[in-house]
Amino acid sequence: MSKGKHPSGAPWRNFYGRFKGKGLRPSQEAYLDEDLDKLSPGPVGWDENPDRDPIDLQALFGGKDVWLEIGFGGGEHLVHQAETYPEIGIIGCEPYINGVAMLLGKIRKSGVSNLAIHPGDVRDLFDVLPDQSLSRAFLLYPDPWPKKRHHRRRFVTPEHLEPLARVLKPNAIFRVATDIPDYVRQTLEQVPRHGFEWLAERPQDWREPWGDWISTRYEQKALREGRTPHYLTFRRKAD
Ligand SMILES: C[S@@+](CC[C@H](N)C(=O)[O-])C[C@H]1O[C@@H](n2cnc3c(N)ncnc32)[C@H](O)[C@@H]1O
Repeated sequence: MSKGKHPSGAPWRNFYGRFKGKGLRPSQEAYLDEDLDKLSPGPVGWDENPDRDPIDLQALFGGKDVWLEIGFGGGEHLVHQAETYPEIGIIGCEPYINGVAMLLGKIRKSGVSNLAIHPGDVRDLFDVLPDQSLSRAFLLYPDPWPKKRHHRRRFVTPEHLEPLARVLKPNAIFRVATDIPDYVRQTLEQVPRHGFEWLAERPQDWREPWGDWISTRYEQKALREGRTPHYLTFRRKAD
């Protein structure tokens, strides 16, 4: 076994979030048992894909443009996008299994079929996404990690932004929403360093949500607690 690796071949990556919360309802257990496998984007896990072969997005979505939502929480925005844009395929990624179960309930209710789910860490998904394969990515209310010594755990760090830049097509759009002023600062500092340009021209561009927005659970909490959302739109520059 090489140093710094799990026996499956996976690198040791610290993950600071939650995989499981309170007990799932029996209906949610059933969604996970019955629906999750069918919605897999392909072999992502280290056990099933130790060589990290790229997943086949053509087979998955039949040549549609592919989008990605990172950390979809309860899945309301993911389902809304899939319903609004049936002509695209969208992959949602979320390690918190209670959130995945919530999403599965919403998928059953809405009947959308242009969705795939990776129930795990987005870094494992990045490993197996082909270069320049996605035309849009969403990062909505990423974990804020307010303490300065934890800022390096934030998504807007090279560990995540380098692979994100690799898998996005030239001119792909990257949307970030956050209610944390210091997260805005770090995003505006870091994202352009990884080949993106910020598209804001006037304050409304970051103060007002996108035209196809639906508010998420985390945004509702932020608003209740008096924090201000910021909506940042970036474009992946052509190399
Ligand atoms: C503050 S919540 C926001 C959830 C949702 N986007 C919303 O706006 O309600 C951040 C989410 O990011 C997820 N997350 C954290 N680290 C992640 C990772 N490495 N890959 C994918 N998702 C991650 C968490 O599990 C959590 O659900």
